[in-house]
Amino acid sequence: MKTYQIAAIPADGIGPEVIEAGTAVLAALAERQGDVDYQVTTFDWGSDYYKKNGVMMPEDGLETLKRFDSIFFGAVGAPDVPDHITLWGLRLPICQGFDQYANVRPTKIIPGVTSPLHDVGVGDLDWVIVRENSEGEYSGNGGRAHRGLPEEVGTEVAIFTRVGVTRIMRYAFELAQSRPRKLLTVVTKSNAQRHGMVMWDEIAEEVSKEFPDVTWDKMLVDAMTVRMVKNPQSLDTIVATNLHADILSDLAGALAGSLGVAPTANIDPQRRSPSMFEPIHGSAFDITGKGIANPVATFWTASQMLDHLGENEAASLLMAAVERVCAEGIMTPDVGGSATTREVTEAVIEAIKGSNVLPNSRTSAA
Ligand code: IPM
Ligand code: MG
Repeated sequence: MKTYQIAAIPADGIGPEVIEAGTAVLAALAERQGDVDYQVTTFDWGSDYYKKNGVMMPEDGLETLKRFDSIFFGAVGAPDVPDHITLWGLRLPICQGFDQYANVRPTKIIPGVTSPLHDVGVGDLDWVIVRENSEGEYSGNGGRAHRGLPEEVGTEVAIFTRVGVTRIMRYAFELAQSRPRKLLTVVTKSNAQRHGMVMWDEIAEEVSKEFPDVTWDKMLVDAMTVRMVKNPQSLDTIVATNLHADILSDLAGALAGSLGVAPTANIDPQRRSPSMFEPIHGSAFDITGKGIANPVATFWTASQMLDHLGENEAASLLMAAVERVCAEGIMTPDVGGSATTREVTEAVIEAIKGSNVLPNSRTSAA
């Protein structure tokens, strides 16, 4: 029996509802697999914890997490705690402390979910966005001077390092190579930003030499938005900076029909520390406690987690089950259905249990 230790941090809003659903589905997979156990340990860190303790997680939080195989994260953000506290107090310290430098965001149209693009359906849009997750525009470097005075200045300095760009580029090329189309698009803004972005282009060129079988091209980020809308079939794997990929991944989610089903993986490709898996959607306080949170993003990220752990068959089985359930119209109201979180979860568990669900699609890339 192989046992994986998973640290769950459900945190705020609908986080606990979707992580509970995800945990139930992992248990069903373990039962179906027979020789594997996913042991989930839950931590109560987050905004409520902050209100009681003045910190989002204990000081030795990272040390505690370090011994786990992976981290299953819900959502952070509360109406009465400033966003920069919740974010910089929990999620970012984990990403940065564990050097999870590859943020991986698969997007595709789930059967049953409709893209706002005309004539674009299942199979037409199947992308993975690789977001540089440790530096760039969100490095936290900058400052304010002369606060409140007319001459006040604020700087927000983007940092690009050769090490940082090379490692994310290599990750993206490897990922592109592992996907059937072996196609990579490198996004920058190297016409207007002539230092760090030109370095990105140069490093892409260098790293591409290691991957002669990968076809790759370059796009400026503004033109990229047009291509995503007008010619989604022409894209497969995409690599971009922290800021650019943040924006492009929201666009990707919208084009695929719903940001509510989109997952994300914060990966340390070198496996020095646990990687973290989460739905992209936030804490959604407007629907918290109503039992209608969409668990699909959490199932999808659980599938990414299984892939990362090496349980690739279970990962595919889970995604196939999710797609089958969605195709049958068993979906929550945010994607046009009328099912509850529990009904979707139970349907997915049934599909896993009963199923001869054949893994017909490899979704996650992590
Ligand atoms: C995301 C989110 C976060 C990010 C926000 C909440 C800071 O937009 O996961 O894309 O940009 O990292
Ligand atoms: Mg974002």
